[in-house]
Amino acid sequence: MTTALVTGGTSGLGEAFAHELARRGNNIVLVARDEEALASVATVLHAKYGVDVEILRADLAHRDQTAVVVARLLDQEHPVDTLVNNAGFGLYGSLLAEDLSEQERAMEVMVHAVLLLSNAAARAMAVRGSGTIINISSSSAWIYTGNYSAIKSWVLTFTKALAVELEGTGVRVVASCPGWAKTNFHSRAGQKRPSLPAWAYVPVASVPRDALACADSGKVVSVPHWPWKIAIWVAQHGPQSIPRSFARKITNSRKK
Ligand SMILES: NC(=O)c1ccc[n+]([C@@H]2O[C@H](COP(=O)([O-])OP(=O)(O)OC[C@H]3O[C@@H](n4cnc5c(N)ncnc54)[C@H](OP(=O)(O)O)[C@@H]3O)[C@@H](O)[C@H]2O)c1
Repeated sequence: MTTALVTGGTSGLGEAFAHELARRGNNIVLVARDEEALASVATVLHAKYGVDVEILRADLAHRDQTAVVVARLLDQEHPVDTLVNNAGFGLYGSLLAEDLSEQERAMEVMVHAVLLLSNAAARAMAVRGSGTIINISSSSAWIYTGNYSAIKSWVLTFTKALAVELEGTGVRVVASCPGWAKTNFHSRAGQKRPSLPAWAYVPVASVPRDALACADSGKVVSVPHWPWKIAIWVAQHGPQSIPRSFARKITNSRKK
C-alpha cells in the first residue's frame, strides 16, 4: 500500500487532499499542530476509507520540528509516495510594518519548510524512481498583494524548477494554484472572506482532484475551477496594468 504525507491535513484544502488520497487507497501521514484536530481527522479517515493514519504533530515554523518531518520523508523503510506541502495561513500585514515577525513566521512555514520537505521527499523518491510532490501555491502568485503573493510566487517558481531537476527520475511534481476557496483560511487570519458570487469560489474538493489529474498527465501547474483559469490567463497574457490594478485595489482595501 502507498503512503501520502499531507502538511496541514486537518483543515480546508489539506483535509480535502487527505480524503482524496485516502479514497485512492493511500495510508496517510497527517502533519499539523493541533493534536485534537489531528486525532479527529485521523479517526474519520480510518473509519471512512479503512486506511492507516499516522499522526505527526509539528509546528513547521520551528526548524527542529520540521526536521522530524524531514526524517519521516527520508525513511526508506517506510516510504512516503506522495508529499503534499499544504500547511499555511493568510498574511495581510503591510510591507512597511515595523514588526515583521508574522511575515518571518509565514516564510518559515510556507517557504523554508516547503524547501526542506520537498528536498527530502525528492531525494528519497528519486532513489526509488517514483513519487509525487504537490506544493500548494495560489492564484495570488500572479498578483502583488504583499508578502503572501511573493511567498506563493516563490512556491510556484521553486516547484517548476524542481520539476525540471526531477525530469527523468520518475518523480512527478505539481504546483497547485487555487483561487479563493471556502476554508478556515480567512477566519483564522481574522479576515472577512471576500464576497464573491457562489460560482466563483473554488470547490474545495476540486483542488486535490485537479492537482492529482495534473500529476497523472505530466502537467506541472494546476489551476482548478474555470473562472480562475480565465483570471490567471488574463494576468499572464493581458496588459500588466490589470493584475497591478487588482493588487492595488486589494492592498488599499486592507489599509482601511
Ligand atoms: N483558502 C484559500 O482561499 C486558499 C487559496 C489559495 C491557496 N491557499 C493555500 O492553501 C493552503 C491551506 O490553506 P487552507 O485554506 O486550507 O487553510 P486552513 O483551513 O486554515 O488550513 C490550514 C492548515 O495548515 C495547518 N498549519 C497552519 N500553520 C501551521 C504550522 N505552523 N505548522 C503546521 N501546520 C500548520 C493548520 O493546522 P494547525 O493550525 O493545527 O497547525 C491547518 O491544518 C495554504 O498554504 C494557503 O496559503 C488557500
